[in-house]
Amino acid sequence: MVTLTNRKENLKNSKNPDRLSPITERFEAVFGTAPTFIASAPGRVNLIGEHTDYNDGYVFPVAINKYLNIAVRKRSDRRVVLHALDVSESCDFSLDARTPIPHQTPAWSRYLIGVASLLQASGKQVAGIDAVITGDVPIGAGLSSSAALSVAATLAFLTAASETAISENDKPELAALCQRVEHEFAGVKCGIMDQTISLLGQENCGLFLDCRSLEYEHVPLNLADHAIAICNTKVKRELATSEYNKRRAECERGVEILRRWLPGATSLRDITVTDFKKHEEELPALTQKRCRYVIEENARVVAAVSALKCRSEGTSSRTDESLIAFGNLMNASHHGLRDDYQVSCTELDLLTDIARDITGVVGSRMTGAGFGGCTVSIVRNDALETFQTRVTTEYHQKTGIEPEIYLCHVSNGAQVF
Ligand code: GLA
Repeated sequence: MVTLTNRKENLKNSKNPDRLSPITERFEAVFGTAPTFIASAPGRVNLIGEHTDYNDGYVFPVAINKYLNIAVRKRSDRRVVLHALDVSESCDFSLDARTPIPHQTPAWSRYLIGVASLLQASGKQVAGIDAVITGDVPIGAGLSSSAALSVAATLAFLTAASETAISENDKPELAALCQRVEHEFAGVKCGIMDQTISLLGQENCGLFLDCRSLEYEHVPLNLADHAIAICNTKVKRELATSEYNKRRAECERGVEILRRWLPGATSLRDITVTDFKKHEEELPALTQKRCRYVIEENARVVAAVSALKCRSEGTSSRTDESLIAFGNLMNASHHGLRDDYQVSCTELDLLTDIARDITGVVGSRMTGAGFGGCTVSIVRNDALETFQTRVTTEYHQKTGIEPEIYLCHVSNGAQVF
């Protein structure tokens, strides 16, 4: 667990590529020589805008100082030799392999095989590499460890081949490629949020992303004396893939029906709360709940970002009205996810309930796909100590599980060192 003291350490390390010396040493131990470079991609936490990305809507995530790192040396042939240190597994493959991926291939390596294959299919130069992989983005906790892996792998293959920096303009296209890796190599029909924030995150800013046009804006968080606290339920997201794909299909079904009355709509993003209210009775009960949530969530993201923009630079000690509005929207988002979209679970609900009962907590919600994973809360700094104690004890009392709490720094997106 992160304590208040080692939080300061974390913040210091996030700015310091010294965090990369252990992986350099491990690479040397495995391959007997130093790596040429390290590709490093962050995980993310989404502040608001959940399950809106695959509905062409809005999201507002931040990149966090938890990273997936790949230390790399270019090879002179077309082989890719990989050692995943955290799971003690290895794998190698040829960039020219055209056979289906063998059944026993480790799950993590499918992301690298997928990235290499799609980069080549899109005409990009890709080189063979020796690599070690390690990171501190918790796996399966809803903080986008798999997106960080695809993004770091993309930078690894491209940098090994061309040794030139990836331009800002190329990043949205690379995010879309990493999203296809999830669809085609992991079977998750995810949206574009996780890969985009991992590539485009900016220190102390949220990414206000329009998932249809892919236009984005870095919005300063100005949280002043508040922190972002992530609480891990430690419940694995068993249902995540199947239920996720089901939700996506339900939303598409909703649009199909609503188009009879709203022919201009091509996704839920095109339907306003007012128009939805006029036609919601036409939908089957479950589809109605799913659509209501997404349509309301899109409106909440827009309102939350404008509330944040009202916070003037350097807003100091008080939790002002705009931050309260932001927090209330986070709470409402959680309720929609729990009651209408039905992707929360007892443990996520419990963590948000405990959090909201603490004075100084501005808002709290589940984050990511749901069915386990993490919550995100905005907490006044002077309430952090109480927050840590109460969340840990009360959650443990009721579930028997020790939660993990990460007080994260909002970081830059993926980089090559
Ligand atoms: C997962 C997906 C994202 C997004 C979230 C829910 O993280 O990868 O594309 O849909 O769930 O907001």
